[in-house]
Amino acid sequence: MTAVGIDAIELWSGKLRLDLAETFAPVKGEDPGKYTKGIGIEYSSLPDVYEDIVTMGANAAKQLMDRKGLTPEDIGRIDVATESAFDNSKPVSTYIAGCLEQVYDGDFHHANKGERKFACLSGTQCLDDAYNWIRAGRNRGRAALVIATDTALYERGDPGEATQGAGAVAMLIDEEPDIVALSTEQGYGSADETDFLKPNQQFPSVDGKRSIQVYLARMREALEDYESVAGDTHPEDFVYFPFHTPYPGMVRKAALLGYRHITRDTEIEDALADDIGMQPREENYETREDYEEAIRAYMDELKGTRQYQEWYEQAIEPTIQVSGQVGNWYTASVHLARLSALRAAASEDVDLAGEKMLVGSYGSGAQAEIHAETVRDGWREGVEGLDVDAQLADRYDLSFEEYELVHDVHNHQKEVEVEEFTQPEGEFVFTGWGRMNERRYEYVE
Ligand code: CAA
Repeated sequence: MTAVGIDAIELWSGKLRLDLAETFAPVKGEDPGKYTKGIGIEYSSLPDVYEDIVTMGANAAKQLMDRKGLTPEDIGRIDVATESAFDNSKPVSTYIAGCLEQVYDGDFHHANKGERKFACLSGTQCLDDAYNWIRAGRNRGRAALVIATDTALYERGDPGEATQGAGAVAMLIDEEPDIVALSTEQGYGSADETDFLKPNQQFPSVDGKRSIQVYLARMREALEDYESVAGDTHPEDFVYFPFHTPYPGMVRKAALLGYRHITRDTEIEDALADDIGMQPREENYETREDYEEAIRAYMDELKGTRQYQEWYEQAIEPTIQVSGQVGNWYTASVHLARLSALRAAASEDVDLAGEKMLVGSYGSGAQAEIHAETVRDGWREGVEGLDVDAQLADRYDLSFEEYELVHDVHNHQKEVEVEEFTQPEGEFVFTGWGRMNERRYEYVE
């Protein structure tokens, strides 16, 4: 069967940054370690006044098209994943196509366009749609452009404010891809949940503590569902485990649970037994409470074992490096996690071709999805040329007062005039509203 998957990736970070330890923590009266160690985010990327989900998405897509030497005729669909949309009817993909048509010959009139919604999961669902479209033979030899773009802003004072971020990831989905091939096998964990939602409002209503529990429960269901079709998973089957990363501390929790699950009934559980005992089995406990307490005690011990820590350092830590520098990019976060791991491998000169990754996506409301990816021969070239370090280093460092202004500029309920902090160059910018309240964009040389 022809492989289908990600042929190219690019990202575009919001051009401002908020330093959580130096700038945010003192004003909040919190220990900086809460953000850098507990939550695990050093900086949040934020959009300058001329940036939004369209500019970031279009800029990431243009970088991708330029690097791959593509023209609009090469693209048969453009799907945008976002939970920051500003229009209930017109999809962001039409705005992005309009931007790209300003700078390329030809147009996207024969490309199918859409916008996917399921909180942070929808970027992965767009990959699915593209995969299925190609597998069904409906692509006429063309590739799909998937763009995950978000301004993940919370109400000022919400505990989620410490996990904000803004940026876009653009991916080209094609046959015989250069970077990773997607597995046919998938697992889902899905339930009607009220953990994080935006009922016709810009900033989310969040039950933070509950959202953590829902993430873990749905991810576990998805893993069991994946194993029901792909067979049991083992830590050595996968070189990396990129998870949706609202903040690295969340992934730390998921990783520990995941490790317990994938080492059960393996030689690793046996090898650990001398030090921390076997994993508790429910049938050996009289009540559910006793069983859960035994699990908590086992997990506390497991966290401190050499085996777990080595696995975490190799298989998880590389996936959260970029996230710790940019914050939550919602729909793009799991795709940043994959990219982060591939970049770490490239910088350490590891040969990944043929290795597998287990990718765990999650969207509040809630649904998790798990699938495998096989790294392809062209992966190194596909990630080495990216200007991620330069983009992150070039961000303007906001003072707290400037951060407050930036938050207000992007607040749909407020009208404030703020000067831009950075100078746009060679990129799409937001220029204001048109006669029907549509947003308008132009390319700045
Ligand atoms: N040094 C080291 N660690 C510290 C510390 C210090 N000085 N002070 C606190 N910490 C640790 C805490 O122990 C805690 O770690 P554990 O959870 O492992 O115990 C961590 O830092 C965070 O501290 P708090 O729990 O006190 O933080 P909080 O209550 O202010 O906020 C939050 C945490 C609830 C996650 C909040 O950021 C939030 O609501 N975020 C938005 C919701 C979210 O991201 N949920 C994740 C799942 S939902 C999802 O994934 C979808 C999505 O993208 C939104």
